[in-house]
Amino acid sequence: MKCSSGKKTLFKILTCALGAGISMMFLLFILGGGFMKQTYLEPWNRDYASHMADPRVRLAAAGLLAANNHNMQPWKVKLDQEDPMVFYLYADGSRATKEVDPLYRQLMITQGTFLEYVKVAGEKEGFHTDITIFPEGDYEEDSILQSMDQKPVARILLSPGNMEESPLYPEMFLADTNRGNYKKEAPDPSQISVLLNLSDENGLSMKFYTDHDNLKKIGKYVMEGAEIEAGVTRVMDESNAIFRTNEKEKNQYRFGYSLEGQGVSGLKKCMLQGIITLFPTLKEGKGASENFIRYTKTAVTHTPSYAMILSRDNSRTDQVRSGMLYSRLVLTGHTLDLTMQPLSQVLEEYPEMKQTYENFNHEYASRGQTVQMLLRIGKPVKPAPYSMRRDVLSLIKE
Ligand SMILES: Cc1cc2nc3c(=O)[nH]c(=O)nc-3n(C[C@H](O)[C@H](O)[C@H](O)COP(=O)(O)O)c2cc1C
Repeated sequence: MKCSSGKKTLFKILTCALGAGISMMFLLFILGGGFMKQTYLEPWNRDYASHMADPRVRLAAAGLLAANNHNMQPWKVKLDQEDPMVFYLYADGSRATKEVDPLYRQLMITQGTFLEYVKVAGEKEGFHTDITIFPEGDYEEDSILQSMDQKPVARILLSPGNMEESPLYPEMFLADTNRGNYKKEAPDPSQISVLLNLSDENGLSMKFYTDHDNLKKIGKYVMEGAEIEAGVTRVMDESNAIFRTNEKEKNQYRFGYSLEGQGVSGLKKCMLQGIITLFPTLKEGKGASENFIRYTKTAVTHTPSYAMILSRDNSRTDQVRSGMLYSRLVLTGHTLDLTMQPLSQVLEEYPEMKQTYENFNHEYASRGQTVQMLLRIGKPVKPAPYSMRRDVLSLIKE
């Protein structure tokens, strides 16, 4: 008799605990935005651009999918009112990440990634895209933010061409950046040779490293860069401020970082988003820095090869062209089942990184050359999730 009432009490306690657990999970799921529509992913839909009547806007919608620094999407597009075949790309200086990118180099590379996507989408639409970089002259470096507002990065002239089934076009609809683990095998020599052939005549070159010594050495630089960055509060604060905690924030802002970028998905993502919504300090300070070091370490450990894009000089045009080459590399890489992740810390130009930056450049660039992009490359263990994108119409400048 006694024994059966004890069992009943235990059963009640377990039922209560289970109920509380389920309620808690449900609460976290709701807080994380589990039932919300993900409008921030709409630009990834294959038919998203087709709703736009103006072909220039359709091409801008393709550009919007390109890799870009800190997912800031710092682009403005101006449609020529007189000529329906012309549009302009401007850098959006209000979206600069000044702490991490004080010389706006990554911002300029990001202009190039956009332009290459426009070119690939143009071919698919039956246009030849004639891109002139800095058609109204270079920026005034002393008042660069003002200059970004006044001078376009590129003039894009469309002319009728052959409608071509570009092999790169479908690859634009895959996420560009995979921060997850890569398989052990490095790209083979024939794949590397295809990728090396992508560099153009503009003083840009690429290098690939698959040997043990360089993997170790570059990995060490990547970790050193990450550790320095993790210790610079203003740089970390800048990144943490654009971390979108839950689905509501992602729909509201549609740019910046989110948990997906760290490879978290599904129910786990919703739960974690709920937890961070309840305890927002989790995305800041020491915890965020440690998390950054931890996932960089995991990435480095699962990297079979590194690549670099180098330019002979470091003009704004070189930076834009490096971005174009990077997009070409990403898209061609996808056709070879290869994925990439830029690892920019060691290339960043803020004072605390200076020594490491110089050591790295001394070791990996010839005199005068600039390493514009450093990236890991390999076969992904899991596909990369999509990141937020703005509505293309918000890019259009009056
Ligand atoms: C110039 C440049 C620098 C970047 N640096 C880094 C980096 O250091 N680490 C990283 O994980 N991703 C880096 N990225 C990738 C962006 O964070 C990524 O493109 C953006 O978040 C959008 O995600 P998606 O490429 O998957 O669409 C960089 C991209 C560009 C264009």
